[in-house]
Amino acid sequence: MTIAEASSSSPAELVSPRLPRERLYIVVVGHVDHGKSTVVGRLLADTHSLPDGKLDRVRALCERTGRPFEYAFLLDALKDEQSQGITIDVARVFFHTSARDYVIIDAPGHNEFLKNMVTGASRAQAALLVIDAAEGVCENSRRHGTMLSLLGIQQLAVLVNKMDLVGWSEAKFRAIESEYRIFLERLGLHPACFVPTSGREGDFIASATARAPWYSGPTVVEVIDAFGAAKPRTAQPFRMPVQDVYKFTGQGDDRRIVAGTVVSGSLAVGDEVVFLPSGKRSHVRSIESFGHTPPRSVDAGSATGFTLTEQTYVTRGELAVRADDPPPRVATRLRASVFWLGKVPLVTGKDYVVRLGTARVPMRVERVHSVMDASTLGSTERAQVERNEVADCTLVLSRPIACDVTDVEETTRFVIVDDYEIRGGGIVREALSDRHHWMREKVQVRDAKWEPSAVALEQRVARFAQRPGLVVITGDTTGERRKALARELEADLFARGRMVYFVGIANILYGVDADLERDEPARFEHVRRLAEIAHLMLDAGFILVITAANLSSDDLDVIRAAAPAEAIIPVWLGDSPPPHHEAALVVKPEEPLPNAVRRIEGVLAHQGILLEAP
Ligand code: GTP
Ligand code: MG
Repeated sequence: MTIAEASSSSPAELVSPRLPRERLYIVVVGHVDHGKSTVVGRLLADTHSLPDGKLDRVRALCERTGRPFEYAFLLDALKDEQSQGITIDVARVFFHTSARDYVIIDAPGHNEFLKNMVTGASRAQAALLVIDAAEGVCENSRRHGTMLSLLGIQQLAVLVNKMDLVGWSEAKFRAIESEYRIFLERLGLHPACFVPTSGREGDFIASATARAPWYSGPTVVEVIDAFGAAKPRTAQPFRMPVQDVYKFTGQGDDRRIVAGTVVSGSLAVGDEVVFLPSGKRSHVRSIESFGHTPPRSVDAGSATGFTLTEQTYVTRGELAVRADDPPPRVATRLRASVFWLGKVPLVTGKDYVVRLGTARVPMRVERVHSVMDASTLGSTERAQVERNEVADCTLVLSRPIACDVTDVEETTRFVIVDDYEIRGGGIVREALSDRHHWMREKVQVRDAKWEPSAVALEQRVARFAQRPGLVVITGDTTGERRKALARELEADLFARGRMVYFVGIANILYGVDADLERDEPARFEHVRRLAEIAHLMLDAGFILVITAANLSSDDLDVIRAAAPAEAIIPVWLGDSPPPHHEAALVVKPEEPLPNAVRRIEGVLAHQGILLEAP
C-alpha cells in the first residue's frame, strides 16, 4: 500500500495546494425505507452536483431495463464509479451548494450507521433525520436520535418525508413533529427545524413548492446551509493513530516512515512527537510525500508519513501526539457509554476486543452501571447489556490504550469486537485510575484475613431494623449546605431510632489522614482510607452519612471496591448533576431540608436499607 492509497481524502485534495472550500459532513439517518437515499439523490440532482449527463444515463438505463427510475439509484451509480477509483470511501457522497461543500453519509442501516460513526469512517458534524410521513416515528427513528445524542451531534433537522403520500396534510406533519420533538428533547437534542418534504417529487429539498402553503420554513438546502461551520480541526491537538511503519528498501536507506491519517491538529518538521502508550519520543525529520516536494507541515484530514531524527521503534496501534499539545489519557480502565448491537448480550467477565484509532486491545466489562433502551429511553439496572441498549460501563483493558475524553472524535470513540465482528461501540467518558486493581487485590486479602464479629450481620439487621448504608452527599452547592443536609438526615434518622452517624471529613483529615498531604497525588489514599473507615462502620451495622465537594465516579469506584456497592447511596445536592453522575437522588439547593430528608429516607427504604421496625 502506498501512502496515497491510505488517504481518506479525495485525490484533488492531495495535489491541489489551494485552500479547500468549507466542508460540512452530514449524516442522513432514519428508519428503513423512509427515503434517506432518495433525499440524498435529490439533493445531488437539484443542486447540480452530479457529473454531466449522469441523471440522463441512469434514467436511460432504467428505461432499458424496465425499472421505474429512483433517485436512490444515483447513489449506487456513483458508488460504482467511485469504487473504481482508489481513494474515495464508498459511504460518502460529495455535493455542494453555493454556500459550501458537503459530504453526505448515507447510513444504509442501523448497524452501518453505528459502525461508520464509531470507526471514524465518517465523522458527521450535523444530521438529517428522515421520517416517513405515512408511517410516522418508528423504532430506528428513535434509536438514531439516541445515537446522535450519544455521539454529541447537536446540529440536526428532521425531514418529514413522503408528504405526497399523506396529501400534504398539515395535521399529519404537526403530529409527527410534536411527537418526535418531545422524544428528541428528552435526549437533549433541539432540531433546527422540521421540514415537510417529498424526496420523490423534490418538494422543499432545494426549492419550496406550492404544495404546503401552510409551511413557511426553510428548504433542506437552506437548513443545511444555515448549520454552523465545523470547528477547524487544525486548532485541536495533533493526533495521528499509527497505521503502519514502512521501511525504505533502497540501498543504504535505513529510514522508516511512520504512516497514518492525521485526525486532528497539525505537525511540522522539527516538532517533537510522543508515541503513546509506549511514551517513546523523537523529532520529525521529514514529512514524506510521493511525487512532489515534501511539505514542511501537514494538517488534519491528510494521510501522511513522516521520518524521525532518532531511530525509534514504534508500531501500529500507537497514537502519535505532539509533545507541546495537551496530552491524551493513557489508561487500562475506562468509563464509557457503550452501545450494543450483538444478538448475544454484552456481559461482564467475557473477553472482547476494543478498537480505538488503530489500537486493538483485549477488554472485559468490569461493571455495568446502568442500561437504557435506545428506543424507549427506559432505564434499568442490570448486569448485562442487550441488543440496542445504551449502557454506562466500566471497561478494563488488558494493556494501556491512549485515548481522549474531549472533542477529538477519532480518539474518543471505539468499537467493541466480539467473536471477530463489530457488535458494539462507545465513547470514552473518563479514563479511570489503574489503582483500583491494586485496591481490589488489597481488599481481597483484607476480606480473607477478616476476623468476623461474634455477632452476625443478620442479628444486627434484625435488632436495628436496618441494613448498613452509606449516604454520600456531593454537589455544587456550598459545603455548609451539604453538611446541613447531612446533619438534618442524621438527626431525623436518630430520632426515629436508627443507628446513624455523620462523619465530618475534617474528623478524618486531621485524624486518620494526619500524615497525608492534601494535594491531588494523595487523593487516592484519602479516598481509600475513607472507604475503609466506611467499611468498618458498615460492618458494625451503621448508616453512615458523609459529604464531599467533588467525588468523581472514579472515587466512588474506590469506595465501592472497599464497601458493598449496594449499600452506597450517592445524593447530588445542586441544580443539575453533571452528565453520567450516578446520583440516586437529586436535591435542588432551594428544596427545604426536611423535604429532602424525607426523600432520602424514601430511597433508603426502597433500597432495603431502612426496614419496617418490628
Ligand atoms: P434504506 O436505505 O433501505 O433504509 O431506505 P432509504 O431510507 O434509503 O429509502 P429509499 O430512498 O431507498 O426509499 C424507499 C422507497 O420510498 C423508494 O421506493 C422510494 O421511491 C420511496 N420514496 C422515497 N421518498 C419518497 C417520497 O417522498 N414520496 C414517495 N411517495 N415515495 C418516496
Ligand atoms: Mg438507502
